[in-house]
Order: sequence, then C-alpha cells, then structure tokens
Amino acid sequence: MSSATPEPCSTLRWIGDVAGRLRLIDQTRLPVQLAEIECTDPESVWKAIRTLQVRGAPAIGVAAAYGLVLGVQPALDSDRSGFLELLERTASYLATSRPTAVNLFWALARMERVAFGSDARLPTRELAERLLAEAHAIRAEDIATCQAIGRHGATLLQEGQGVLTHCNAGGLATAEYGTALAVFFAAQESGKRLHVYADETRPLLQGSRLTAWELQRRGIEVTVICDSAAAQVMREGKVQAVVVGADRIAANGDVANKIGTYGVAVLAKAHGIPFYVAAPTSTFDLTLDCGQRIPIEHRPAEEITHGFGQPTAPAGVAAYNPAFDVTPADLIAALICEHGIISPPNSGTIAALISPNSREA
Ligand code: MRU
Repeated sequence: MSSATPEPCSTLRWIGDVAGRLRLIDQTRLPVQLAEIECTDPESVWKAIRTLQVRGAPAIGVAAAYGLVLGVQPALDSDRSGFLELLERTASYLATSRPTAVNLFWALARMERVAFGSDARLPTRELAERLLAEAHAIRAEDIATCQAIGRHGATLLQEGQGVLTHCNAGGLATAEYGTALAVFFAAQESGKRLHVYADETRPLLQGSRLTAWELQRRGIEVTVICDSAAAQVMREGKVQAVVVGADRIAANGDVANKIGTYGVAVLAKAHGIPFYVAAPTSTFDLTLDCGQRIPIEHRPAEEITHGFGQPTAPAGVAAYNPAFDVTPADLIAALICEHGIISPPNSGTIAALISPNSREA
C-alpha cells in the first residue's frame, strides 16, 4: 500500500477550444481497466449518462454542461435565434438522460441562463465560448466545493474509526474529489486513519468496483462487504459512522441516494451509529418540500436478472429495479455541504445555511 497521494482522477475534462470534445473515464470498465472515451455530440453524452459510463450526481451535471456546448457546435456561425433554439432543444434532450440527480437539471438551467441572459449583439461563436467558460466554471467549482465538504466532514470522524459507505460518492462521481469519500480523503490528509467498509452496492456494484478502487488507490484501508452484511458488521461493532452521498435533497432534508441507502440508515439508527450525508448545495432541491416528490429512476430488469451479462435469475422472472430510494431526514444525523454541517437536518436548518438562490429552477 502506498502512502503517497496519487494524482487525482480527472473524471471528465474538455479537450480543445469551443469546437473541442469531452473526454471522460468510462466507469463501466473499472476496476478492470482505466480507460477514457470521447464524446463529440450530445447523443454520446446522453448515452454515457444513461449507461453509467459517467455517473454520480455532480459528475452528471458537469457532463451535461459540456454536452450543451457540443450541442451548439453546429450553430457556431449561425444567427442568435437558431443558436438559442438548438441550445434549448439540446438541453431538453439531455434532461431526459436520467431523472433523479438534480445536478443534471441545475447545470442545464445554469448554462441556459448564461445564454439567454447574454447581450443580444454577441456573435454566436462568442456566446458558445461563454458557455464553454461556464461549463469549465461548473467543473472547477465542483472541485473546490468537494474539498470544502471534505474539510467539514472530516471533523465528524475520529482517529481509528470504522466507517461505512454505500455506492460511490468519490472522485469518480464528481469532477475530481468526491463528497462522501472526500470526507475520508480529508480525514486521511489530516492524519486520521480510518477503516472503510464499502457496501458492494447491488446491482451494478459501484461500491466494490469504484469505491474500493478509489480508496485502495489512495492507501485507505477498505473492506468490501455484501450489502446484506451491513447489519452484522454493525452488530460486531466495526462501524462508528456512516457517510453517503446524495442525488437530490428535498427542502425538509429527505435524501434520495442509491437504492439500499435507506436500509443502511435504518440499520445505523438501530445500532446507534450516526448517519451522515455529504453533498454540494447543487444537490439540494428546495422546490420540493419532501422526499416523496423526488422522481425515482427505474432501470432495466436485466441489471438484476443478468448481472454483467450472465443469467442470474430464471428466464422470464419478474424483477423490480428502482435505482434510488429516499431516506427520511429523521434518520440523518447531519448533512455536510460546502458551507458547513447542517444538524439536525430540517427545513429550518437547511434554509438557514443554504440561500434559496443556490437552487434556482
Ligand atoms: O446510479 P449512480 O451510480 O449514478 O448513483 C450514484 C449515487 O447514488 C451517489 O451516491 C450520488 O450520486 C452521490 S455522488 C457524489
């Protein structure tokens, strides 16, 4: 195990000028292969998001922002109305890629505000350059935001603790540094040793494929467990805190995250273990009063019945595959965002730390 911090992973980056392309790590190939793909049009970005080549709420938002730049490339030298019409069409299209992570819609809305708020005399090529600058800003802000989340969250953990996480809320799920895993990274950087239990996270194994890969790469002790082992591991006293990410947080603090998160929160409560959620303010959706209104993605049954291509259930059997669940706020000890720690999470404490302007529709 190496103690040196490895080069950060660039989950996704833009190559070239406004006529350039988006390069991203193909997360479906990890941990076997660290390979990148290039997206040169909105269709390939849509497909990358839908098939989880790029995934995790903040990373999806950054990908969509760059996807919009790809979308307007055919109109670089057209008139403003044609340019804006293509922009809107591309934004509506990219918005259909996945429904739960609000960062997707947040990033698209932010990009559209730049375009529609621009000086009407601006040549379309310059407008596209402003959009590219905005996409770069979204990516750069995500890196800084995640570092702040890590710093705040690390104060909640103690030297030598066992911590559990579900799914992957690491560098791969963001531009570079992660949310839940940022808390572990920052704890490690401040000299605290942790032992992380990574739920494997059925059916697509983001925990064992991606979280374990990231932690191992950074020299943080990690043990992969079956999702169904979490209760036993907690009963054995191995876990002193749970930290997970989020795809959307309602105004009252209810949290949508990877399917299985709710179960982990119930288990943590039963064992008296604090359950923390780390997420940037771009993941808060203050337009929704509670988590019941968060749209939950349902994914193909084959992800369960044909795990990674092999039949893992009898032919023709029904399978139910919600990709996310909602953890009620009363199971959450604290939300960790870039502005600090919100505890206990409720509509009052959330509103006090997060200005409504940070979640414009
Ligand atoms: O289906 P996925 O892999 O995109 O689900 C990702 C998660 O549930 C993450 O925990 C969440 O997006 C937070 S990422 C910082």
